[in-house]
Amino acid sequence: MERISTGIEGLDEAIGGFPVGRTIVVTGNAGAGKTILCLQYVYACCAAGLKTVYMASEEEPVDLVEQGSSFGWDLQGFIDDGTLSFMDMATLDEIEVEMAMIISYEAKKGNFVGLLEDLPEGTKAVVVDSLGSYTANLTIHEFKDQFGLLIHGLKQRGITTLVIIDSATSKEFNDMALFWAHGAISLQKRDNPYTGKRERAMDLIKMRNTKTPTELLTYDIGENGLVISH
Ligand SMILES: Nc1ncnc2c1ncn2[C@@H]1O[C@H](COP(=O)(O)OP(=O)(O)OP(=O)(O)O)[C@@H](O)[C@H]1O
Ligand SMILES: [Mg+2]
Repeated sequence: MERISTGIEGLDEAIGGFPVGRTIVVTGNAGAGKTILCLQYVYACCAAGLKTVYMASEEEPVDLVEQGSSFGWDLQGFIDDGTLSFMDMATLDEIEVEMAMIISYEAKKGNFVGLLEDLPEGTKAVVVDSLGSYTANLTIHEFKDQFGLLIHGLKQRGITTLVIIDSATSKEFNDMALFWAHGAISLQKRDNPYTGKRERAMDLIKMRNTKTPTELLTYDIGENGLVISH
């Protein structure tokens, strides 16, 4: 299976990169590093010349570009040359988002699939940060259908996608997404029983067709973004 870089050296070593055309779910509590992981992936994709889209519903694109700059990633340069685009869902207020969802739900029988139609021609990498914002008003059955259609549509288009599901999303939706996705990564903090210190750890919950380490990968967030420490 063809792979692309995750943007994180130690993670590439551990799993050989993300499988092309597949959808990987990224979960984790607030501040775990989900957005930084996505920005790092996006930067690597752009650097490899892949047309990339970041769907941002939690933070405004200017803030995301600035967060990238703090790690030395020139995302603005990729926006300017047309490699990267942000779809800004953050500046819509809640009522507008709900209205947009109702309208698109009626029109397209599902707003996740509507997301696909908004992607520029030739898109090869997508980040959805986060999907939780699109799940309001959906029953678990509707969510299952729409999520299934979304990952199927992405696969058909050969788009390798990271979907963030944050801890504000209900467990039921979270479990459903983990079940349907090709891969799942959870970012967490834990107490190391040997050192007595808090540390960040990445759990590679699943990655189909991939030899995946069972132990947690510890990581730091430093001046170069996420770095696997062991
Ligand atoms: N320049 C930096 N250098 C080192 N660590 C940083 C830097 N910028 C952010 N961090 C750390 O990364 C954490 C935030 O990561 P990120 O925004 O990716 O979290 P998240 O999982 O997306 O959270 P949320 O669920 O709130 O969106 C911060 O809480 C901070 O600890
Ligand atoms: Mg975030």
